[in-house]
Amino acid sequence: MSAQLIDGKAAALRLREQIAADVRDFADQFGYAPGLAVVLVGSDPASEVYVRNKVIATEEAGMHSFEFRLPVDVTEGELLNCIDRLNSDPTVHGILVQLPLPKGIDVSRVIERISPTKDVDGFTITNTGRLAAGLESLEPCTPAGVMMLIKGVRPELVGLSALVVGASNIVGKPMARLLLKERCTVTIAHSKTIDLRERCREADILVVATGVPEMISGGWIKPGATVIDVGISRISCEDGRTRLVGDVDFVGASKSAGAITPVPGGVGPMTIACLLANTLTAAKRQVQLPAAE
Ligand code: GUN
Repeated sequence: MSAQLIDGKAAALRLREQIAADVRDFADQFGYAPGLAVVLVGSDPASEVYVRNKVIATEEAGMHSFEFRLPVDVTEGELLNCIDRLNSDPTVHGILVQLPLPKGIDVSRVIERISPTKDVDGFTITNTGRLAAGLESLEPCTPAGVMMLIKGVRPELVGLSALVVGASNIVGKPMARLLLKERCTVTIAHSKTIDLRERCREADILVVATGVPEMISGGWIKPGATVIDVGISRISCEDGRTRLVGDVDFVGASKSAGAITPVPGGVGPMTIACLLANTLTAAKRQVQLPAAE
């Protein structure tokens, strides 16, 4: 292996320590800590784990955590009412509705109900549009975390060729916008892209978020490229065991990449750290300064 390993776990830990210090300063100044409300509908096992980790991280950062567990058969109206209450609760500065939602609930309507100022996922049309327009917004957590990891190993990005594989609203599209903001030359590839191998070979920065295990071969990586693997899948091995892999052939890619994230321990930890950062940012923007006497 010649590539530098990008340690997302260590970077996330440093960021979380910084946020905890900033939360203490915030609480000293304003007399209360920021609050994050997490809404979980149903009991999807993966979502349960994500929510538990978010709650623990929020409390460890010194913020208030409010957890709302709604039954799988909750009506859309009841869920919207829950969001309305959180929107008008002054102790709640960030709201996150864990996805996916059960069938029959209109995800867009639910997300749009969240006040853009409390939308710490950065999923509302307001925050998506503001990001697209290059305005101040709450940025989606995974792409924001990826950007920090890239800048950690490659501070100067202007003019570099960046390829984002995967065009989801949660990762791919906002990722491309953040790279564009850094003045990279950005391409988004997706399931219909014809010449993916050639596109990959040209990329100085390669971010892969497809959910397809090891779909990017090691031989496709441009020598010296920065490779960020957002995917995480559990696959079966020949000996009957299972292991976690990303969307990139890690061993192969490590031979030519300049720097690469491992799976696990790369992007994942940064997502939660950026959620905490967004909650603090949202709280700061919601601060009601006392009226001058
Ligand atoms: N489900 C998987 N990833 C996410 C995320 O980043 N935010 C929310 N709300 N749900 C998710």
